[in-house]
Order: sequence, then structure tokens, then C-alpha cells
Amino acid sequence: MPNLCIVGLQWGDEGKGKIVDFFADRFDGVVRYNGGSNAGHTIVIGGRTFVFHLLPSGSLKKKKLLIGPGVALDPLTLEGELRLVREERGEADLLVDERCTLVTPYEKQMDAFIEGLRGDDAIGTTKRGIGPSYAMRALRLTPRAGDLVNGTFDMGNALSFYETFLRDLPEIETWKAEAKRVLQGKTGDVGQTIMEMNESGRSVLFEGAQGVLLDIVYGTYPYVTGAHTLANYVPAGLGIPNSYLGEVMGVAKAYTTRVGGGPFPTEIFGESGEKIRAIGREYGATTGRPRRVGWLDLVGLRYAVRINGVSELALTKLDILTKVKEMKVCEAYSIDGAETSDFGRALPKLGRVEPVYREMSSLFGLELEDGGLPGPAEKLVGLLEDALKVKVSLVSTGQERSATMNRSM
Ligand code: IMP
Ligand code: MG
Repeated sequence: MPNLCIVGLQWGDEGKGKIVDFFADRFDGVVRYNGGSNAGHTIVIGGRTFVFHLLPSGSLKKKKLLIGPGVALDPLTLEGELRLVREERGEADLLVDERCTLVTPYEKQMDAFIEGLRGDDAIGTTKRGIGPSYAMRALRLTPRAGDLVNGTFDMGNALSFYETFLRDLPEIETWKAEAKRVLQGKTGDVGQTIMEMNESGRSVLFEGAQGVLLDIVYGTYPYVTGAHTLANYVPAGLGIPNSYLGEVMGVAKAYTTRVGGGPFPTEIFGESGEKIRAIGREYGATTGRPRRVGWLDLVGLRYAVRINGVSELALTKLDILTKVKEMKVCEAYSIDGAETSDFGRALPKLGRVEPVYREMSSLFGLELEDGGLPGPAEKLVGLLEDALKVKVSLVSTGQERSATMNRSM
């Protein structure tokens, strides 16, 4: 059975957690391959809400859970999630790669320090230490998950480095002992494990964190996260050949949101935006911050679909647009009097592009029941398929697992 990769096509918070949870039954394992506890993947089951930051979203389905070397790992956050899963479903079957870069309390402090330096130009990071952790990896100053377990953990040079910038650094020994206890017996080689699973006929789901437009290289730099967010990163981030990637399903919300700073061409100021934020519960799952809200942006989506090699699409939160009277979709950008639909080339000027909207008939008041979408909703899906040249195979019409329409059959 082939693997599947689920990847966000906007600025994160597209509803990947729900889609991963929806598909998890078909797979033997779920793999996190990028980011860290900056992610917040929400799953709603029977009216109860679960938010995972580090554990893959297949956690509640007794799947094999894998955290690859490309993840910035905060062991104490992991511990809290393992406890939750233990109470709900019994002991999680988790393997963390020995090569994972650790997030210690120092990286979190550094994250806040650097944001302070930026002042008005702050990125608005989640302050989970993600950027500093990847930076310390590049500087070869930080220990890895395996170092904790194997007794080769040494923060000596990192501490000297941090003492140059930061005051009141906490002592690390207590943290180290706790972190080691969390990871003991859970570390190994995730890439090899995935290949062995595949070779014995068991498939895995790769769960992307954040979204394409937050990719450190291909996103809206510098307002991006510290890691790669593209599906292309799956093989590199896990140490497996490209052929193991499988199909790529892109997840897009029926409107757009962004948390933190940075350009956002279709941002809505005013009543419709506030309404979407309130009804769509657009508050950060990690930080609780209100998310900025905007109309669907086909220019950004086309870019995201193209550079990810997306083969099918899941459209989420369509139900939210049935509660809003206004409805717009951005088809192009206008910059300095010229129109473009090339997001990559518009990127350097993204802060001053004007969106060119197509006025659509509003979805206000529509009932989205199983067994086919009503006309205006079907029209929106058709517009998306035409513009992006991919099939919308899944439409999510509510928080619950059951509120998901499968259009691929
Ligand atoms: P960092 O990843 O904490 O360094 O934050 C960098 C930027 O990415 C900030 O604008 C964050 O709000 C955003 N970000 C990071 N993770 C997520 C996520 O999972 N969903 C949405 N935005 C995110
Ligand atoms: Mg999220």
C-alpha cells in the first residue's frame, strides 16, 4: 500500500490534524517530519477537542507514531501529550529519531530574546524555541535526542554561547534528567523503520506541520518558520528515498488565515473578517492568539500546489463560509499597475500587491449535507479545480470526523 503525505498549502492551520485523523485508519503509522511544538493540530471527537503539538495526529487511533530527525523536539511537551494518549487510549507506540534536534529551555529563552530585538518587525513566533533550535543545529552546538539517552549530552559550548546574550539562564540538570526519562527506550532510526514497514506491506502517513507559505526558503521570508514545510522535505527530513513519499494531498481552508506578522494580500479588515474569526474559531491552537483572516487566494494556492507536487486537494471549513454574507476569491494580484498570477515572482513585493477579486455568489445559509454540495458551493470547488488543475477529493464541512465529504468516489 502506498504512503500518503498531507501538507498545508497556506500559512498553517488549514485543518491538517482533522484530515490526518480522517485518513489514519488506512495506514499503519503516522509520521511527523518537520517543525516542532510550534504546530497545533486539532482533532474533535464526540464534542471533545484534542490538540497535538508534537505527537502525530494518528495518536488517538493506536497507530505506530514516528517522529523523524527533521523535527525540533521538546521532550517535556512530548511527555504531556504521551500522558494524554495514555489516559485516553493506553500506551502510545512511539519511536523518536536519535538525530532529532532538541529544544531546551535555552532555545525558548533565545526565541523571546530575538523577537524582542526585532521590535515592531517581530515575526510573531510561537516562542517554542523552534528557530533557535534549528539555528543551534546549524552551528553544531546543540545535542540531539540520542545524546540524552546515550549519555553523550553536552550543553557546555551552547551554554557559553547563550551566556553571551542571555541573563538568568536556568540550570539544565533537572531538565536533562526529566527529558532523558521521557525519551528512554523510545529512540531509534525512524527512516529505517519506515522503509522496513513499507517492505513488509505496511504504509505510513506523513503529517506536515505549518504550511508552504511558512517554509524557511520558499515562504514569505523573513516571516516564516525555522524549517522546511514542503512535501519535498519528507525524503530529506526522514532519510528515505524519494520513491517512498507517495501521493501528496494538499490541505487548503476555504478562506485564508495567518498568525503573526508578514504580508497577507487578501486580509479582511472589518466585519466579515471578525465574523469568520469568531465562527471559524480562528485562534491559535498553540498560542491562543487571534488569527488574521482573509479571502481564499488562488495565486498563493497555485504556487503551493505547484512546488509541492500536490496530486489531490482537501478543502476545509467550507461550513464557515455558509455563515458569512460576503464572498470573494482572489484570482490575481495587481502590482504597480500590472496584473500577475505568479506568486513566486510577486513575493518580493507581496506587502504592496492589491488582490484582484472575483465576486462569487455567497454561500450564506446553505446546508452542507452529505450526498452532494449545493450549487454555489459546487461552483467554488469547480473554480478551485480549474485554477489549480487538481481534484478536490475531500471537503470538510464541520469539526467532527464524520463531517467530511469524500468526492473521489
Ligand atoms: P515559529 O515557527 O514559532 O518560529 O514562528 C514563525 C511564524 O510561523 C510565526 O508567524 C508563527 O505564528 C507561524 N507558525 C509557526 N507554526 C505555526 C503553525 O503550526 N500554524 C500557524 N502558524 C505557525
Ligand atoms: Mg495549527
